[in-house]
Amino acid sequence: MKIISAPDYQSMSRKAANIISAQVILFPDSVLGLATGSTPLGVYQQLIDWYKKGDLDFSKVRSVNLDEYCGLAGDHEQSYRYYMNTNFFKHINISMENTYVPNGMAQDVDAECRRYDKIINDLGGIDLQLLGIGHTGHIGFNEPDEDFDKMTHCVKLKQKTIDANSRFFERVDQVPKYAITMGIKAIMQAKKLLLVANGENKADILCRSLFGPVTPKVPASILQLHNDLTVVADEAALSLIRSKYPEAIG
Ligand code: F6R
Repeated sequence: MKIISAPDYQSMSRKAANIISAQVILFPDSVLGLATGSTPLGVYQQLIDWYKKGDLDFSKVRSVNLDEYCGLAGDHEQSYRYYMNTNFFKHINISMENTYVPNGMAQDVDAECRRYDKIINDLGGIDLQLLGIGHTGHIGFNEPDEDFDKMTHCVKLKQKTIDANSRFFERVDQVPKYAITMGIKAIMQAKKLLLVANGENKADILCRSLFGPVTPKVPASILQLHNDLTVVADEAALSLIRSKYPEAIG
């Protein structure tokens, strides 16, 4: 595990974007695993800027997103498909048919989960997976549980997650209660993992995830077992790790 500290959000975003950028330059047909939420917005913005300057080419890149809310169509403003299209895909030269997000409107959710696992498998797995971290320790929407859920599955969101994500909705009761998420297996099989985190309110969960016991009660703790994990976080998110394990920060 490599932990890279950044003084602030902008710098965190640029450092993380640099890692993705290197991947795309070295391996133009990479399979990128992508995340949504507030944290990666700056990363996408930086990649868009470099693309517009002519430094990046996404024409051969394939992407698979971590998750999607159940019950939201791709044109719903709070769906993750809409987020990806508006915050990233439509500003770069990726082919839309090479971008995959679970279908939140699938009638047969189990079939959709199996279809999504097959997509990831057929792509040959993920080369670089970008991750954020939820306050529950979720990655994707793999919420705390008794076991690690290996495959793509439908998950009931924890109230803490619903409350955190309600900031994007007019009312908390509009936040979907269920989501489809990539499982731990596809995430852990990604060749490289890049976890981004910012803000003091992530300090506790980041420290528990990276230095606490590996347990499905803290899903992100499984990341400790990956052999190519890079964490890029701002000083606020690293504050607890800095005080307890200063030597761990590179
Ligand atoms: C979303 C996802 C989630 C978020 C997490 C943090 O695709 O994978 O695990 O990364 O909920 O969200 P933010 O960045 O909004 O704090």
